[in-house]
Amino acid sequence: MDVTNRIEQALTDAIGLAAVTGCPPRLAEAMRYAVFPRGARVRPRLCHSVAAACGEDNPAATAAAGAALELMHCASLVHDDLPCFDGAATRRGRPSVHKAFGEPLAVLTGDALIVLAFQTIARVNCAPDRLAALTMTIGQAVGVPFGIVAGQAWECESEINLAHYHRSKTGALFVAATAAGAASAGADPEPWRMVGEKIGEAYQVADDLRDAAADEDEIGKPVGQDVANGRPSAVTELGIDGAIFRLQGLVRGAIEAMPPCENGHELRSLIMSEAKRLVPAKLAQSAA
Ligand code: IPE
Ligand code: IPE
Ligand code: MG
Ligand code: MG
Repeated sequence: MDVTNRIEQALTDAIGLAAVTGCPPRLAEAMRYAVFPRGARVRPRLCHSVAAACGEDNPAATAAAGAALELMHCASLVHDDLPCFDGAATRRGRPSVHKAFGEPLAVLTGDALIVLAFQTIARVNCAPDRLAALTMTIGQAVGVPFGIVAGQAWECESEINLAHYHRSKTGALFVAATAAGAASAGADPEPWRMVGEKIGEAYQVADDLRDAAADEDEIGKPVGQDVANGRPSAVTELGIDGAIFRLQGLVRGAIEAMPPCENGHELRSLIMSEAKRLVPAKLAQSAA
């Protein structure tokens, strides 16, 4: 099975555990809606590529780690779109979860996906030290003091440090993706964290560029939100050209940060193709 199918199968299995007779049907439907159809699945793809680079020896552990990362990501998007955060009406080209199912079910869907992510890791058959490393890695990326929850909480402070905000809100789950890929293969996750840091920062710069310069049709979610919500952004700080320059430096830095490994080609080509995909069409020419 190729990586795309492995990722979708692991997510289908995870959601299948929740969506059974006896589960409130609309909650089960909202959970499925939050996860399918897919976004770019970039975090699980990173996890699988790093596991391959580290000589993957427990495919079920990689798949569970990838699914857990994506469930956490989907949960964060459901909560992020709520009126009390960004109030976004669309996500992945269709109504966001709170628009389709209402706010109470959107809150509960995010909660349920976070718990399901940990259950997905806990069910996998692998050595206890790998299980502990995966649980800690993913927990750190989502919670406090430096995970997604902390990142979103910076929006409630009167002063925001852009680097801390981005690192927690977006970067942390990318660090978890590279570290979990290594941990799932029984390798030391530490040297892989820097790769995730660079990719995460690049991704946030790219997201800011898309917010400033893409069309809603191109990215499937509202644009112009950073200015509308008064959020700090790489474009506000560096301008469009400065942000593109920064993005290119981060992509090079991510590849240079890869520790020596036998099977790194998959990860290298993933990083390059993502860097290309994420630059809005109308900026792609100047970026080239
Ligand atoms: C969007 O993430 C939110 C950010 C953290 C920038 P993605 O761009 O990975 O969203 P999907 O999963 O492809 O929809
Ligand atoms: C979302 O950040 C990151 C999360 C932790 C969910 P943004 O609010 O900048 O991302 P989009 O533009 O809604 O995808
Ligand atoms: Mg937000
Ligand atoms: Mg948002």
